[in-house]
Amino acid sequence: MSASQAQTLWAELEAQPRPSLETLFEDAGRLERYSTTLELPGGPVIFDWSKTHLSSQVEQALVAISKAMDLAGRRDALIGGEKINNTEGRAAEHTAQRGIGKETSVEEAEALHARMRMLVEAIHEGAFGEIKSLIHIGIGGSALGPALAIDALTRDGAKVAVHVVSNIDGCALEAAMKACDPETTMIAVASKTFTTTETMTNAQSALSWMRENGVSDPYGRVVALTASPEKAVEWGVDETRVLPFSESVGGRYSLWSSIGFPVAMALGWEGFAEFLDGAAAIDRHFIDADLAENVVVRAAFADLYYTQVRGCETRAVFAYDERLKLLPDYLQQLEMESNGKRVLADGTPLTRASAPITWGGVGTDAQHAVFQLLHQGTHLIPVDFLAVITPGHDLDGAHHEILLSNCFAQGAALMAGKASDDGARAYPGDRPSATILCEDLNPATLGALIAFHEHRTFVSSAMLGINPFDQFGVELGKAIAKQIESGGGKGFDPSTEALLKAAGIG
Ligand code: F6P
Repeated sequence: MSASQAQTLWAELEAQPRPSLETLFEDAGRLERYSTTLELPGGPVIFDWSKTHLSSQVEQALVAISKAMDLAGRRDALIGGEKINNTEGRAAEHTAQRGIGKETSVEEAEALHARMRMLVEAIHEGAFGEIKSLIHIGIGGSALGPALAIDALTRDGAKVAVHVVSNIDGCALEAAMKACDPETTMIAVASKTFTTTETMTNAQSALSWMRENGVSDPYGRVVALTASPEKAVEWGVDETRVLPFSESVGGRYSLWSSIGFPVAMALGWEGFAEFLDGAAAIDRHFIDADLAENVVVRAAFADLYYTQVRGCETRAVFAYDERLKLLPDYLQQLEMESNGKRVLADGTPLTRASAPITWGGVGTDAQHAVFQLLHQGTHLIPVDFLAVITPGHDLDGAHHEILLSNCFAQGAALMAGKASDDGARAYPGDRPSATILCEDLNPATLGALIAFHEHRTFVSSAMLGINPFDQFGVELGKAIAKQIESGGGKGFDPSTEALLKAAGIG
């Protein structure tokens, strides 16, 4: 089997009949077949894909494509620590951080976690005096995961208040500085490469702020989280406060490594360990469950079906839980930086659509803003809903009942639609959605949700033959910005030159 055979199979799938969701639900066994409850360390989670157009015929075709593309072999290579990031000559060993993977990589991750734990616990026990806040400075994969986890899991309080700063716009760091007392604050500088302009500039400004506010040894308050420990030491961080992670952990997959330091600082080590355990449970499911029962593979199959067969250019994610409001941001990097590619892993052109555009928001807010287009617009947009049965607050139960009622109502309305003689008031229906319903939101559940999306993204990449672990597309803009910063603001197109001139730059 080969990629060219996969093309033929895609064409066959495209030619298949397309029964409506209503027709598909005539099968009495549909709900049981496409809604799976996993008993996970953080509590049960329902993965309901029944309101998508997956059917046994569609799945058969996708299974055939998965065989042609050697999905199982690619998954084993991922977990086995092979150098599947071929363009950078690296493995992608985020699962080893959760205890699943090549033995030596798992051992290395455990040793680095032990070191991180010692530092976290020393800080909690007062080795650096009273520490009330942590300013976590990083960007992209070095910030989005910590920001999501902190926002989701510390609403009832944290051992240390964490402020995540990513943007180079000084407004971001200034807001964090205003919320912190330099005397009781530590700084985490999170950067895989330890060269990223935004992070290094923000870190320098944070140190100046400490110095100007009477902290005699600001470097003594810095912890570095990086795969380039030598650069952190060179920059001025004492080796004892450099928490390394392996080069084989990709930036957008790094929350499980020392990039998770702020999460452990906020939750305590037990909480961070639960987070890893939740993710490991999904790793095991992804590896062990049959294709037919595999919620990760099923989700990726539906994603591929809509993008490749139904021509959907976007997919939307709505968290019906305020605590998960940063999840769409996190998923945007995970999915679009991983699979937003125009070539296959071997460098030849991708002749099919690449990753859909991931977007979304929080329910119910989004219902009053963007759902009009989902229900009646001309685009077909597969939607994921995420909700949690146990509320994250102590207010009247009515809040949560209304929240969940709305979540389920939207999925039902998208599917059923509503006929009307008045075109403006008619809803076409037959619009797909999937629902992930968690019993509780805790570190283990969040870990599981993130790992589920990591593997879902990986399956899509493998089915298309993309390398999801590089991101060369971000380099050109960075290089041009550097050129402008160093005074090279000439030789551009007239528009860019005029903008630079207007801003007095370059
Ligand atoms: O520019 C994109 C990127 O390389 C992301 O892939 C990465 O997560 C982010 O920048 C930050 O990189 P670093 O952790 O090396 O500072």
